[in-house]
Amino acid sequence: MGDTKQLAQTYTVVNNTQYDAGLFLIKRLELEPGMRVLDVGCGPGNLTSYLTDLVGEGGEVVGIDPSEERIALARETTTRDTGRKNPQFHVGRAEDLAQFPAASFDVVYCNSTLHWVADQPRALREFGRVLRAGGRLGVSGQSGDFVAAHERIQAAVLARTPYRDYDHGTAGAAPRFLTREQMGALLDLAGFGGGDRTFTTNKIFNSSGKTYGGVPVEMRPQAREEMIAEWDKLATKDGLMMELDLLVTVATKA
Ligand SMILES: C[S@@+](CC[C@H](N)C(=O)[O-])C[C@H]1O[C@@H](n2cnc3c(N)ncnc32)[C@H](O)[C@@H]1O
Repeated sequence: MGDTKQLAQTYTVVNNTQYDAGLFLIKRLELEPGMRVLDVGCGPGNLTSYLTDLVGEGGEVVGIDPSEERIALARETTTRDTGRKNPQFHVGRAEDLAQFPAASFDVVYCNSTLHWVADQPRALREFGRVLRAGGRLGVSGQSGDFVAAHERIQAAVLARTPYRDYDHGTAGAAPRFLTREQMGALLDLAGFGGGDRTFTTNKIFNSSGKTYGGVPVEMRPQAREEMIAEWDKLATKDGLMMELDLLVTVATKA
């Protein structure tokens, strides 16, 4: 993922929805003082700091992220002036946790990240390896079982003439959201079979960019009218209702 210091900083301002989703997951992980926690895909470290408060100075929190800019910002904003040992940040990917020994964490936490991970089965195996027996894995991200209203409306309008004649492929890699069934299968393959497992749906509200796909600028006003007509169908007296289901997984290593 291309990144800049500015993007990393903007991210910390606009990610309230994501922050709340992270809190929802953390609550379900029942963290206690003294625990060792790995935050995979920690970004600029906002939630990593929160994890640190929960485990205290007797615990250990490590955040990893492939983005050097985000890791730099995380170090700058969370460890500045404190002189504390926690949290620590390293550049790294979910698929390769070789920098951590087996069974070295009580909790592996992964918020809004797994859908960007190129090799998800390998990442899950790595999570299982670095967790101690009885340790917990927590993952939250958009559910692959759910099609959001903005995705449905965008797909419906862009499939019409004349918009269908344009290339709407995304510039970068597309996120790969997991269904409950896919997540279950990955957990089984990664050695989480036999341990407790819960799946929860976290209903959140969000907005989306990239609305017009590859529709040329001059056609966008018309496409916009057609999308508005679809959105009107979602209008309630309290405003537009746009629902999003997150799949929240907590799995214990047996
Ligand atoms: C949407 S952000 C979430 C950040 C943070 N977990 C939060 O909830 O605020 C997704 C993060 O995943 C990171 N990421 C992308 N590919 C990754 C991979 N293969 N392994 C670990 N993290 C990855 C990105 O750099 C980005 O910081």
